[in-house]
Amino acid sequence: MSKRIKSEYDLVIVGSGIAGLSFALKVAEAGYRVAIFTKKDKAESNTNYAQGGIAAVTSAGDDLEKHVVDTLEAGDGLCDSQIVREILKDGPERIKDLIQLGVSFSSLDDGRISLGKEGGHSKRRVLHVKDVTGKAIEEALLANIAKQDVTLFEHFFAIDLVTSRKARKLGVKVEGSGDRVLGLYLYDANKERVVTVAAPVVLLATGGAGQTYLYTTNPSIATGDGVAMASRAGLPAMNLEFIQFHPTTLHSQSGDRFLITEAVRGEGVKLIDSKSKPFLKKYHPLADLAPRDVVARAIDREMKRSGAPFVRLDTPRMKGNFPKRFPNVYENCLKRGVDAVIDPIPVVPAAHYSCGGIPTEIDCSTKLKGLFACGEVACTGLHGANRLASNSLLEAVVMAHRGAEAVCSFLEERKKEKVSLPEWVDGDVPASDERVVLSHNLDELKRTMWDYVGIVRSTKRLERARSRLRNLEREINEYYWNAKVDLSLLEVRNLVCVAELIVRSALKRKESRGLHYTLDYPHLAEEAENTLVPPLRR
Ligand code: FAD
Ligand code: SIN
Repeated sequence: MSKRIKSEYDLVIVGSGIAGLSFALKVAEAGYRVAIFTKKDKAESNTNYAQGGIAAVTSAGDDLEKHVVDTLEAGDGLCDSQIVREILKDGPERIKDLIQLGVSFSSLDDGRISLGKEGGHSKRRVLHVKDVTGKAIEEALLANIAKQDVTLFEHFFAIDLVTSRKARKLGVKVEGSGDRVLGLYLYDANKERVVTVAAPVVLLATGGAGQTYLYTTNPSIATGDGVAMASRAGLPAMNLEFIQFHPTTLHSQSGDRFLITEAVRGEGVKLIDSKSKPFLKKYHPLADLAPRDVVARAIDREMKRSGAPFVRLDTPRMKGNFPKRFPNVYENCLKRGVDAVIDPIPVVPAAHYSCGGIPTEIDCSTKLKGLFACGEVACTGLHGANRLASNSLLEAVVMAHRGAEAVCSFLEERKKEKVSLPEWVDGDVPASDERVVLSHNLDELKRTMWDYVGIVRSTKRLERARSRLRNLEREINEYYWNAKVDLSLLEVRNLVCVAELIVRSALKRKESRGLHYTLDYPHLAEEAENTLVPPLRR
């Protein structure tokens, strides 16, 4: 039996990264009752680890058109150019909001804002707080949330949406005929029980899915939960084959992949091969500052060609400036045995960002009434086949602002009704009884994705991945339906669902574009089309 949280929330938000928190602030300011549920400690999010910064046009030598062209170029013909323009034009205003909320961006000695440069940008336009931009943003947003009338629940894991279609199937009377969101089921890890929460509007701000891969820059929360929940609620997934591999993460035997921000290359540091020679010029006229897909593939190629387990970033050329500009990266490399002032940093690519997700309109609405999505979980059309560096934090704040306005209008117009949500029915086998099997399943899943659905793909490898994932999915779902749920079971259930969606997307794309490179179709197709994968209703 589930426990009902006696709530009268207008908006329930899942996730406390930049998207969820920014959205909450705006809707709460308008006087609506907002609750945020987050699955770990409130600051634990991809946002908290963002290093390079947030891209926006703020300097005299730059303009919107240049930012638009760079974004379209990186996106390899698949961005929605109207959306790109709409989102990027709001950037400078949203940067002002962040400054007002207390984010103190790094500045130069003369007081001007310090702007970093990253791959694919024709201008310096990345605002940053040294190399800990995400942490500074997360802290500022949380401090402001604490001053608002927003209830924030930590260690609550959103399991599934409750929709009117689902409720009717279970015999609950719901007004009207169409499908819409009624609320959601959440696992309360503090009390180890499932709760139901009713709400007319739910926002999914659950972030990315880097944990589908063996090697990733993402923290453990990034398990694709929002995409999996939306798929089970009947929504398609868009462009999920475009998984961005960050070119430079610190190579370590442990498998831990600490990000070395691209802003390092923006300061003139070059990638060098096993003979200490720069090699990117061979691959792209922008060399070390080419878009990420190009750099990651070039590194993959160099490593395969030379047999070396990594390439290196020639950081000693920055001398004592390196620790000053990149104190967090410097400290983290030192902790792992690399003094970047003396030795080049050994680096390898790792899964970093999901360009696809739940398709949304420019106001964050989805095809399911009452369901909104914002941040990395959503697919707006901004990134196309490859995201331009530092456009992600920007997209989240811009879209949160627009989405919040849309949610306020939705709430104003809605007809209030009281709905009884169907009770959650738990299995009786403790999931912990199957812990060993589940952890083997997880390991196999991550390895399959890394080995067969990586930087360079082929139809044969993708088909192999699909058949392995099907077996895993069957096993995991068998446990799920009989088990008393817990966090690790819920996460692995979502991971296998998202992995399957990624592979299905990749198999649908019969060309190489942006981040999707396949040996069987090495060229661009004439028409650039989005991939839509139908829902996996399980
Ligand atoms: P997140 O910040 O990931 O937040 C998701 C939230 O949802 C978390 O609170 C999580 O706990 C919660 N959650 C997830 N599932 C559930 C569930 N089932 N129930 C309850 N809660 C749930 N982008 C840039 O633009 N510039 C950068 O410099 C940059 N650097 C990066 C560096 C690293 C190491 C990484 C990993 C990413 C970086 N990115 C960068 C990408 C960027 O940080 C993310 O895309 C962005 O922060 C996503 O924000 P979000 O709010 O959508 O998701
Ligand atoms: C980085 O700092 O290199 C990451 C930037 C991003 O992912 O946008």
